[in-house]
Amino acid sequence: MSIVYDFKENIKKDELENIAHVINDGGLVVFPTETVYGIGADATNSEAVKKIFLAKGRPQDNPLIVHISNLEMLDKYTYGINSVEKKLIDAFWPGPLTIILKSKNNLSNNVTAGLDTVGIRMPDNDIALNIIEVSQKPIAAPSANISGKPSGTKIEDIFDELNNRVDAFVDGGDTDIGIESTVVKVDNGVVNILRPGKISLEDIKALGLNVKLDRHVFEDVKDGEKVESPGMKHRHYAPKTKAILVEYDKSDKMLDKIKSYQAKNKISIGAICYKEHENELKNIGIKTIVMGSRDDLLGISRNIFSLIRGIDKYNFDVCLIEGVKKEYIGTAIMNRLIRACGYNIL
Ligand code: TXA
Ligand code: MG
Repeated sequence: MSIVYDFKENIKKDELENIAHVINDGGLVVFPTETVYGIGADATNSEAVKKIFLAKGRPQDNPLIVHISNLEMLDKYTYGINSVEKKLIDAFWPGPLTIILKSKNNLSNNVTAGLDTVGIRMPDNDIALNIIEVSQKPIAAPSANISGKPSGTKIEDIFDELNNRVDAFVDGGDTDIGIESTVVKVDNGVVNILRPGKISLEDIKALGLNVKLDRHVFEDVKDGEKVESPGMKHRHYAPKTKAILVEYDKSDKMLDKIKSYQAKNKISIGAICYKEHENELKNIGIKTIVMGSRDDLLGISRNIFSLIRGIDKYNFDVCLIEGVKKEYIGTAIMNRLIRACGYNIL
């Protein structure tokens, strides 16, 4: 059985030392960040990093994000930052922003999957920062989940799937944001968003920077197509149950659509829906799972992975998922929902 450290109330100094030892001995630790839980290992130890790929069943070509706790570590592992990257770091670190930078190649090779770049972020979570500080190691950490499943946002959701695959879990309670960091790469002065997150296109624009969403944020990758980020190619977040996305601007017409769908298909339909639509849906015999109010995007982002993880237990033939407006963190929520629905849109 993996050891569980309870840091929900406070960080316990002596236990923190034990956790740092696990990292320094090449072990795996599930720990919280402000976005989602990560499975962490010493990013300079290739045997340790190899264990992450095994524990998750992660494809070898998908590089890991390296977590740091101070800017000296940035200098140590990358060839430095340009003025655009500096602006991003000044504005958003510590925080949910990963920047792809030129690597000095002094991290373990499997962290970067052989690329000459590395994704770096400084998490805004005291437990994470303390583990990095005390172990004095950069920590490679993908999201805590078996590959393909939604990222873990609470220990209860991921304990069974990762128990015995890691040495320790550090329970810091539910994560704040609930979806993974924004991943960006600066190309010719333009900030390209490879994976949207809480730090949004609008937030980056507000700094006076040129910014765009990579095409593959909403478009599926075709066979053999070149991608900016290996993670874009891999199947993600999908439950076993068939899930269908209802786009925001169409969700008022959702009821009509569902009624005709139900009439045609004679199947049991569930819906992950807004609080505002709960009653109407129940009235036509649809089992509802409420994601939150449609005006509370942060509340929805906190809940969404846990709800998607829970879908399969209901045995619906189909589960509809209501979409949100593609603005601010809503863009990130929609990026995850489209994948969870395997690009099926009602
Ligand atoms: O919020 C987060 O970012 C969480 C927490 C634990 O920090 N971590 C996370 O890691 O989501 P992961 O491995 O699940 O996602 C990392 C993403 C993948 O899509 C990967 O392809 C991309 O970042 N990535 C990593 N290094 C890259 C690189 N050098 N170039 C392009 N994309 C990279
Ligand atoms: Mg992940």
